Amino acid sequence: MADNILEIQDLKKYFPVKSRKIFSRERQVVHAVDGVSFGIRRGEVLGLVGESGCGKTTLGRTAVRLYKPTGGKIFFDGQDITNASNRELIPVKKKMQIIFQDPYASLNPRLTIGDIISEPMRIHHIGTKAEQEERVQELLNVVGLKPDHIRRYPNEFSGGQRQRVGIARALAVNPSFIMCDEPISALDVSIQAQIINMLEELRDKLNLTYLFVAHDLSMVRHISDRICVMYLGNMVECGPSEEVYTHPMHPYTKALLSAVPIPDPIRTREQKRTLLEGEIPSPINPPKGCPFCTRCTCKEKICMEVKPPVKEVDGRQIACHLFP
Ligand SMILES: Nc1ncnc2c1ncn2[C@@H]1O[C@H](COP(=O)(O)OP(=O)(O)OP(=O)(O)O)[C@@H](O)[C@H]1O
Ligand SMILES: [Mg+2]
Repeated sequence: MADNILEIQDLKKYFPVKSRKIFSRERQVVHAVDGVSFGIRRGEVLGLVGESGCGKTTLGRTAVRLYKPTGGKIFFDGQDITNASNRELIPVKKKMQIIFQDPYASLNPRLTIGDIISEPMRIHHIGTKAEQEERVQELLNVVGLKPDHIRRYPNEFSGGQRQRVGIARALAVNPSFIMCDEPISALDVSIQAQIINMLEELRDKLNLTYLFVAHDLSMVRHISDRICVMYLGNMVECGPSEEVYTHPMHPYTKALLSAVPIPDPIRTREQKRTLLEGEIPSPINPPKGCPFCTRCTCKEKICMEVKPPVKEVDGRQIACHLFP
């Protein structure tokens, strides 16, 4: 734990929702994150992948205490922030920032780029107005935007440029940890590589640690040191990036990977396809045993009855009964 900048233990986040049945007053609970544990080492990039709705955003937002956890523990820089008050969180939040999933929705259209980037400095009372403007100019340069962009509005920018603004805003208060929530999913393929390269350079230059969320393993393969795979609010596999990518162990990781096209016709022909059958179950009524048991092709009786604990297998964490 000493060298982990962030550590979560058995983290849970449930959302109470109203029943969809008409006239019903019944309350239901969405098990968005259902007991996830991992640590992120200082300077590491941890990729978090899984299908839409599996709880990646909720996990990331709870880990940086944008949401109050339902259960479990969160440690940041050795400090237990699980139940920290808003006041106690102020200095912590300065060190943890977020780059949001949708660069179109996450920038306030009424503010200029300069105001958007300097907002975290105003919140944390850092510098005078002149110093803030100087810092914004510096940040525009760091993310590859022009000095005169400072007075423009978000609607004058492309998706890639907006995401650069989002990155500049996240960097404004010199954080040590950034949760990157699918920062490239909404962008053109040609722009995606530019943003990824920039994030990698920034990590090296500024000594940053990332929790990097994506729904596709190939997107996080190069930038991540380790990859965690999530399914229905649970972590099913976590290990070194290349190993998870080239030799997936969990049946769900295998299925997720076989959906990724390989740019090599011979390997494509040889690749065994593990197609995912059936629908992803509702997080309101998750299966009793293994969360993946309703779609798994290798399941046994125990899989339907007992939730598999996370085990250490060949340097990887894996939650599957098939691994003794
Ligand atoms: N504020 C909320 N209130 C109720 N349910 C929520 C809330 N936020 C998320 N959920 C539910 O929690 C589950 C996980 O959602 P989350 O957004 O974390 O998934 P995700 O993996 O980030 O998906 P995506 O890849 O589409 O961004 C979903 O079933 C979602 O509907
Ligand atoms: Mg999300």
